[in-house]
Amino acid sequence: MSLPDRVKIVEVAARDGLQNEKQFIATDVKVELINRLTAAGFANIETTSFVSPKWVPQMADATQVMASIQRNPNTLYSVLTPNLKGLEGALASQANEIVIFAAASESFSQRNINCSIAESIARFEPVAEQAKQAGLLIRGSISCALGCPYEGEIAIDAVVDVAKRLEALGCHELDVADTIGVGTPNKVYEVMRTVTEHIDPAKISGHFHDTYGQAIANIVAALNAGISIIHSSTAGLGGCPYAKGATGNVATEDVLYLLHNMGIQTGVDLDAVVDIGQWISAQLGRPSFSRAGNALAARKAG
Ligand code: HMG
Ligand code: MG
Repeated sequence: MSLPDRVKIVEVAARDGLQNEKQFIATDVKVELINRLTAAGFANIETTSFVSPKWVPQMADATQVMASIQRNPNTLYSVLTPNLKGLEGALASQANEIVIFAAASESFSQRNINCSIAESIARFEPVAEQAKQAGLLIRGSISCALGCPYEGEIAIDAVVDVAKRLEALGCHELDVADTIGVGTPNKVYEVMRTVTEHIDPAKISGHFHDTYGQAIANIVAALNAGISIIHSSTAGLGGCPYAKGATGNVATEDVLYLLHNMGIQTGVDLDAVVDIGQWISAQLGRPSFSRAGNALAARKAG
């Protein structure tokens, strides 16, 4: 299979990247992060989550964040919505896309959204219906597609099954997520090839956490399997509160460095993202997790 000429990056630092931070990050910092990401050229920015603040306190300012960002009409601003209450927030704040998030693992579904996989799909039905009526795009995320922190191995059939159910709800995009970063290239290739036997590859994205340092290799495997949408997080920020020990998403700087040097376009300004990665890491009081980001920043500093 030939590699794509162009890859769409879904930038998730403001949501997946920040949701696990213990200290509350000022709303102004979140807003500046999103504004700078918008200026860097991302076509899709995961902005915040309309979830229970008891479950994820860091996202409690979702309404204020959405009200304060400067939007580019060519950028999609996505928000996570686990239920109808979340959808209300998404509609009131004029999000472009909602993300309904399910799992291929029963145990993870319980820990993350407090219900079984089947219950979650039933809960998403009215959310998707009302979102469609309001003209919102709907994306579906499938956690633990490459392994689960509670159950270990996950059958590929379980991933395919959830993907089909989310597609039936009207999702235009489906995220195959390696929540805890345990995947390796052969497995990623197999999962992506199997899922794309059932669903158009143009609808499938790869969402890789980099816990075991495999994410860049996994992205190459996913591209070889026909995938052309990749999620990443500036400075490699991130982790799921319900996946203990899982570290951040693959760093956007590393992904852009990889893709651009492979001759694959993204429409994103790597140089700008390097600066954003250094800036947000300084805001959080630690070095960036991005290897390419740090190397390029050092080169710039001369
Ligand atoms: P629950 O406790 O079963 O729900 O939580 P509930 O309906 O009983 O509500 C409990 C309280 O939350 C109530 O407040 C509700 O009003 C409130 P109280 O009456 O006690 O004061 N509530 C809400 N508040 C604001 N917005 C809402 C909302 N819903 C209820 N939307 C629930 C169920 C799904 C709400 C909860 O489990 C939850 O919010 N979970 C979110 C978990 C989460 O955000 N996880 C991280 C994102 S997923 C992820 O990171 C994975 C991903 O990156 C892919 C990958 O890497 O795998 C996408
Ligand atoms: Mg994630």
